[in-house]
Amino acid sequence: KFAQPTGAWAGALAASLLCLSAQAAPLTRDNGAPVGNNQNSQTAGPNGPALLQDVQLLQKLQRFDRERIPERVVHARGTGAHGEFTATEDISDLTLAKVFEKGSTTPVFVRFSTVVHGLHSPETLRDPRGFATKFYTADGNWDLVGNNFPTFFIRDAIKFPDMVHSFKPDPRTNLDDDSRRFDFLSFHPESTRTLTLLYSNQGTPASYRQMDGNGVHAYKLVNDQGEVHYAKFRWATLQGIRNFDPKENEAMQGKDYSHLSRDLIEAIDRGDHPKWDLYVQVLKPEQLADFEFDPLDATKIWPDVPERKIGQMVLNRNPQNIFQETEQVAMAPANLVPGIEPSEDRLLQGRLFAYADTQLHRVGTNGLSLPINRPQVEVNNGNQDGAMNFGQTTTSVNYQPSRRENREETPRAVYSQLPLSGTTQQAPIQREQNFKQAGELYRSFSAKEKKDLINTLGGELARTDDEAKHIMLSFFYKADTEYGEGLTRVAKADLNRVKTLAAELQD
Ligand code: HEM
Repeated sequence: KFAQPTGAWAGALAASLLCLSAQAAPLTRDNGAPVGNNQNSQTAGPNGPALLQDVQLLQKLQRFDRERIPERVVHARGTGAHGEFTATEDISDLTLAKVFEKGSTTPVFVRFSTVVHGLHSPETLRDPRGFATKFYTADGNWDLVGNNFPTFFIRDAIKFPDMVHSFKPDPRTNLDDDSRRFDFLSFHPESTRTLTLLYSNQGTPASYRQMDGNGVHAYKLVNDQGEVHYAKFRWATLQGIRNFDPKENEAMQGKDYSHLSRDLIEAIDRGDHPKWDLYVQVLKPEQLADFEFDPLDATKIWPDVPERKIGQMVLNRNPQNIFQETEQVAMAPANLVPGIEPSEDRLLQGRLFAYADTQLHRVGTNGLSLPINRPQVEVNNGNQDGAMNFGQTTTSVNYQPSRRENREETPRAVYSQLPLSGTTQQAPIQREQNFKQAGELYRSFSAKEKKDLINTLGGELARTDDEAKHIMLSFFYKADTEYGEGLTRVAKADLNRVKTLAAELQD
């Protein structure tokens, strides 16, 4: 141990020792001025208070005090990686999007996430997992903001805030309580399929590399003739799917609850670069009428619609700084490019607004100018100023049109047209079919997967209020009688009451 030097010369000595030992670049304040002493605050004599004139002390504390930005209201905990997407098929019959020109390669940034809990919450928690990809295309950024599950709990954006409130901890006690979500979802039979996924072992993936991703919604692909196809995207993992069963998950929780981030970061660091194939399913507009359910309902998959493989993505570079890249990345379903448009899916329509809105608050007015969010093409419009602006308006013409210096509109970027008739309304969708796909999903599971699901979900339902529990059980019973009976047994509920409630349900 060295004796601590005291007295007036101590700071100068410490600074010169640090300089000598590391031969490093000088430490500076934010104004670039070199710092004389970063080890001791400036005080009035040996026993006096710290001085307001010590600007290094003040600035260091001020900057530290402001290190946090609001965390994402959902999907707060995530991990990201850079990579590239290669378009492997010619799909110019479907879309004019440059990202899908056969043979082209586009840089991407992917952020994987858990959903419900905060920035430093365990990654072992049962949850859907986010799988969001930003493609830096030659036509601007396209974000495919998806999940590992191919379906969602609800179908209308007006329900999203209530749903998330019911999934988050109790606002009075901050305690986790699944019975709150069942209280809410007992009014929403459309959640039956996605709840089946959530409480299956797919709710606890073993690694982000070993999981598929899904766009969930239908989007519209538009070709150079203006023809529209509705399209659903899926990332298929080439690492093989692997999920934890409840025992494995519990063991991991006690060992390392950052296992998902760690696995991805370590794999990329050692050169084991994960890959996914991108598949698309397409429907012509007139085919939307051919289904017993509404194909634009985000609680549904499109069974029996063939998939076409259209590209491959590899993740090959870890971020250098988690805050600047993974935390500040702003993924938004509204970031679309010519040739890819939103469908009329009511959930997606709400998302088009919500992400850009939250990001104006979370990363600020000029957040899209940050390196991780900036497109590889030049941004050229009259949007200007705002907090933290450092560019954009470079000429006297900050309006359009102009005879002096026009910014041209691009004919191939004009939106496709949707024929409409009727009146405005506030009504549920037609063709709900809430249970059929949930039953098919249950029956696709192995005996072990069914047993794990029934024990996990039945155990949670056992702790749910009596009425909500029986209503929830009737949904699962309606989906599949064996499934409903198994859950009723584990939840210690009344099977006759479940059957009576199920008999009243339409599918
Ligand atoms: C993140 C809202 C449905 C996947 C977010 C965020 C909001 C939000 C406000 C935080 C964004 C940020 O701070 O950057 C909504 C609303 C929904 C909805 C209002 C329904 C109306 C969905 C669906 C999916 C999804 C259906 C999957 C298809 C994600 C993902 C993220 C996210 C992956 C994290 C993105 C990232 O890693 O930065 N959502 N969400 N959300 N959401 Fe949603």
